[in-house]
Amino acid sequence: MEKLSETVLRFQNIHKIFSSEGVQFTALEKINFSIHKGEFIGLSGKSGSGKTTLLNIAGLIDPPTRGDLFIKNINIKDLKDSELSLIRAQEIGFIFQTFNLLPLLTALENVEYPLMLLNIPDAERIERAHQALKRVGLDGFSHRRPSQLSGGQRQRVALARAIVKNPTLILADEPTANLDTKTSDEVFELLMGLQRDLKVTVMLCSHDNDLIAKTHRQIKISDGHIISDSLTGGAL
Ligand SMILES: Nc1ncnc2c1ncn2[C@@H]1O[C@H](COP(=O)(O)OP(=O)(O)O)[C@@H](O)[C@H]1O
Ligand SMILES: [Mg+2]
Repeated sequence: MEKLSETVLRFQNIHKIFSSEGVQFTALEKINFSIHKGEFIGLSGKSGSGKTTLLNIAGLIDPPTRGDLFIKNINIKDLKDSELSLIRAQEIGFIFQTFNLLPLLTALENVEYPLMLLNIPDAERIERAHQALKRVGLDGFSHRRPSQLSGGQRQRVALARAIVKNPTLILADEPTANLDTKTSDEVFELLMGLQRDLKVTVMLCSHDNDLIAKTHRQIKISDGHIISDSLTGGAL
């Protein structure tokens, strides 16, 4: 019998409709799928197809207009804003195309930041931030500011910042789009290694079909609809 894997997130008939200047635009329609623990999902689709909208809903940043989102089998509609913020702070790590590091903070302070929001005591916070930087090969760069790091190094700091809180889910929105091909491959391999070693669940979206092909499960969206969802085996 197939082993039932733990569900991290479940999208049930989710729609997202944006309204601006009286015009409604359906960015996502009838989205139904579940993310299981330990999966590495590659989300692909043309620009404007709804990838970022879907990741923002998964990350509890933006609520769906219709439908239900379950996190570990709890309907987010049953949670208060403060509970949603806490889940986001504890369980979800984000990685962005533009890195989104705080420019005035050092690499170490950027990685410490999510732990500050969780009120982790100083000594533990600094130790965990160093460990996370070490995992991405940047412990020797902990006192540099983002402007003193290359694009690839900045994204490694962002990876460290995403993993430092031991999240359940990492959401990566075109994390390699601002990097050259070689650096992009290195950052992606690093993310795959972290996913495997830390047993974290990842959903990544990308325009790069070569990267998507290396993920374990590939979901394709077009005009706000999931048009395919296929497992490729991988290391699950
Ligand atoms: N805040 C918003 N207001 C209005 N339309 C939006 C908003 N965010 C996204 N959209 C529209 O929704 C569609 C999907 O956008 P997005 O999820 O950013 O696509 P992708 O990340 O795949 O490029 C696009 O047509 C975009 O213009
Ligand atoms: Mg996008």
